[in-house]
Amino acid sequence: VTFSFDSLRRFPDVEAPNLFAVDASDRLILDEAAEALAASAPGEVVVIGDHYGAITLAAAATHGLRDIRVHIDPLSGERALANNAGELAPAFTVLPLDASLLSGARVVLLQLPRSLDELDEIAGLIAANAHPEVRLYAGGMIKHLSLGMNEVLGRHFSAVRAGLARQKARVLTVSGPIQAASEWPRREFQRELDLWVCANGGVFAGTKLDIGTRFLLSVLDQATPDAVTAIDLGSGSGIVAAVLAKSRPGLAVLATDQSAAAVASSEATALANGLGDRVRVVRDAGLESQPDASADLVVLNPPFHVGAVVHTGLAHRLFADAARVLRPGGELWTVYNSHLGYRGALKELVGETRQIAKNTKFTVTASIAREQSSR
Ligand SMILES: C[S@@+](CC[C@H](N)C(=O)[O-])C[C@H]1O[C@@H](n2cnc3c(N)ncnc32)[C@H](O)[C@@H]1O
Repeated sequence: VTFSFDSLRRFPDVEAPNLFAVDASDRLILDEAAEALAASAPGEVVVIGDHYGAITLAAAATHGLRDIRVHIDPLSGERALANNAGELAPAFTVLPLDASLLSGARVVLLQLPRSLDELDEIAGLIAANAHPEVRLYAGGMIKHLSLGMNEVLGRHFSAVRAGLARQKARVLTVSGPIQAASEWPRREFQRELDLWVCANGGVFAGTKLDIGTRFLLSVLDQATPDAVTAIDLGSGSGIVAAVLAKSRPGLAVLATDQSAAAVASSEATALANGLGDRVRVVRDAGLESQPDASADLVVLNPPFHVGAVVHTGLAHRLFADAARVLRPGGELWTVYNSHLGYRGALKELVGETRQIAKNTKFTVTASIAREQSSR
């Protein structure tokens, strides 16, 4: 099978001349693990956090591996892997972040996540479920690595060895799993909301209430009081969806996020508050799976990072999605860091936008969706 890193794309993730589908850490992880990969049997290799499929596909092509198990948290990464796979598609299976991903694994290739909580959850799962002789090759670009990562790995494994840096990338080789009970997902009672909040490791703000979200929630009871359907777009732990469902008994609430961890957490939060039948949760890229003009209210605390690159393009895509999915006259309520100045884009992409509240850091706006024909 022919394979070239050069043919990999980031699509459907944001693409730009300064954004790449493969980096030096992908290549270093593959090189450091080469011997172990060459010696492994079908079903023994697991890849976690592969950005766009470079690690999975190169491992499959170079070493002829089959039955590679893969977990990628963002749906965009999972789709990029599928789009890039070509003839290598039969070589791997995508699985959730649980025991099914890791049982009996002997080689795990990991793109280190930014969040230490996410790493803690992943490391704990590997230690609990992989083969006792598992070897974990955990790598990343040095600017994204921290000593905290060694500490987290050290809680779950007896040996953590840092390899030599190459092209600003580094790989930690880890072995000797230590069995311990999993602490994930976590849950915490947020008294000010009278709500349980559940979160897996990779979720924005974890079980806490983000200060931007708190500001949004402080005015949310004013949002389209006659709404029958509402969407928590980019739901994270599902706090907003749970607040909406709890405070408006007649409202049908949909929570969507492209992160597998967020979707699991939003479901858990709804269940923990007895709202399991009131909040429907779907993993989706923006609002792709939702029909046009179908919602009365969309609530959004947009992400503004693409990996390390600040990129408002992502927020703009979500505004456009909300515009399409709102019925004319329906409203998009958005909270954002005031310096991001989203009001112009909201007006252009959705419709007339008014400021609802502003404090020293954040702005909350409401945008009224236009008629389809005038969009
Ligand atoms: C700032 S967090 C807000 C989370 C939650 N609503 C809150 O207020 O705590 C933004 C969320 O958007 C999600 N997200 C990012 N890009 C997305 C996309 N294209 N489609 C759906 N969700 C996305 C992220 O996974 C993250 O959970």
